[in-house]
Amino acid sequence: MIYISRDAHFCAAHKLYNEKWSKEKNEEIFGACANENWHGHNFDMTVTVKGQVDPDTGFVMNFKDLNAIIKKDILEKVDHKNLNLDVDFMKGKLTSCESLIVEFWKILNPKIKAVTNNRVVLHSIKLNETNKNYAEYYGE
Ligand code: NI
Repeated sequence: MIYISRDAHFCAAHKLYNEKWSKEKNEEIFGACANENWHGHNFDMTVTVKGQVDPDTGFVMNFKDLNAIIKKDILEKVDHKNLNLDVDFMKGKLTSCESLIVEFWKILNPKIKAVTNNRVVLHSIKLNETNKNYAEYYGE
């Protein structure tokens, strides 16, 4: 099994806020991310897929195809957007890195499988919210 990865970057605004809690509790738990007038992050993402090498191309998956899927199905929906208000698949969800990558997985994995005739599947998504904090998801 060979693993290949594509990096992507997007900028987006969000707010972490649980409506069931008081303003004080939200500030205590979410800190600066609870700021009521929003704030932004420069997100860095790594998408890793796995499969066998296609003898016709020498590739696991054409990076051109992987890049096109990430761009159309993720970046065009989240880049320079408000994750709480503008992104259909985040409606009603907390816009944490953890929640984002679970939703990204649901979108990306079927597309990756479709474009490779099920030869290749998503292996992991890593999403950095800052250069020190990140979440990883392996679909489990
Ligand atoms: Ni934040």
